[in-house]
Amino acid sequence: MAKKSKTLPIYVLNGPNLNLLGRREPDIYGRTTLAEIEQMTVQRADTHGLSVVFRQSNHEGELIDWIQEARTKSTGVIINGGAYSHTSLALHDALRALDHPVVEVHLSNPFAREDFRHHSRLSPVAKGVIVGFGAQSYVLAIDAIASLIKGSAG
Ligand code: DQA
Repeated sequence: MAKKSKTLPIYVLNGPNLNLLGRREPDIYGRTTLAEIEQMTVQRADTHGLSVVFRQSNHEGELIDWIQEARTKSTGVIINGGAYSHTSLALHDALRALDHPVVEVHLSNPFAREDFRHHSRLSPVAKGVIVGFGAQSYVLAIDAIASLIKGSAG
């Protein structure tokens, strides 16, 4: 078993409609539920000796409150902003104010979809972006943020 560190948790934040995963357009988003993705991230983080706080909201303001909370209570943020990724200057600003690494994640590949999904307001303030691997995108994001956290700690 991986040794537990005293490092603060990774915040994994999920935006609107992601609570419907498993039932929502499964041909695009897959059949894995958000609860199953949470388990996957917790298990993967554990292999790095890290923990996860996993949340979902349909409300932009609540997501912003959590990003602000992450300033002192997390070591990094993984965010799937859902449709807010394409629209929200407020999420952009909140992430920009964070000193920790940010990884943007999407289940689908927005660049292979409608034009209005081709631009993300979050990407410019993310260290990196992982898209298109379904639920596995989150696992890859855990690996990515773990190496960023270890890099900044070392
Ligand atoms: C999504 C992609 C967004 O364009 C969409 O609005 C979502 C899900 C994804 O994970 O693929 O809600 O963020």
